[in-house]
Amino acid sequence: MAVIRKPGTLDLAQWKALLASEKMRTEELGAGSGFWLVAHESGQLVGGAGLEFGGDSALLRSLVVAVPLRGRGLGQALLDALAEEAGRRGAVWLYALSSEAPKFLLASGFRETTPDEVEAALPEAPLVALYRRLKWLPTERAFRRDLAPASSAA
Ligand SMILES: CC(C)(COP(=O)(O)OP(=O)(O)OC[C@H]1O[C@@H](n2cnc3c(N)ncnc32)[C@H](O)[C@@H]1OP(=O)(O)O)[C@@H](O)C(=O)NCCC(=O)NCCS
Repeated sequence: MAVIRKPGTLDLAQWKALLASEKMRTEELGAGSGFWLVAHESGQLVGGAGLEFGGDSALLRSLVVAVPLRGRGLGQALLDALAEEAGRRGAVWLYALSSEAPKFLLASGFRETTPDEVEAALPEAPLVALYRRLKWLPTERAFRRDLAPASSAA
């Protein structure tokens, strides 16, 4: 069973390699302004995911699970742990930019929104700034999950 924890320095290189194998960006991975988690199984790094923050929002980034471990709930477990941390830090919205995993995100409580909304919510987030520089924002798919606890019926 995989163990999820904060990354150590040695984890970052393995996580970057996993992300690179999926052609995912690794800039500012592990930066102090974000929140990061990795998953280990049998001494191997098998997954990771992070958050960037801005205003009342958080941005999911760098979520990846090693191919042999997919479909066993690890992606969901990483996402749940991040959503909990985002809520603890006062975020109301969790955003994601992903053209690769729309089905996973929609199955995980996200609804599709626009890249413009993500940019407006998190203009200073490193990943948003990078995508802006690369001119990727207009063609990305964007998703938003409501982190506010469901209000109880009166
Ligand atoms: C997306 C990713 C992290 C999912 O990790 P995972 O550990 O396989 O996901 P889980 O096993 O937790 O799946 C959670 C749910 O999403 C569904 N799901 C996962 N990947 C899916 C996919 N590619 N297409 C459709 N549904 C998917 C699962 O069926 C599961 O639903 P269920 O609980 O109803 O069965 C993994 O496929 C991955 O690393 N992909 C490459 C990197 C990537 O695209 N990252 C962007 C993520 S925003």
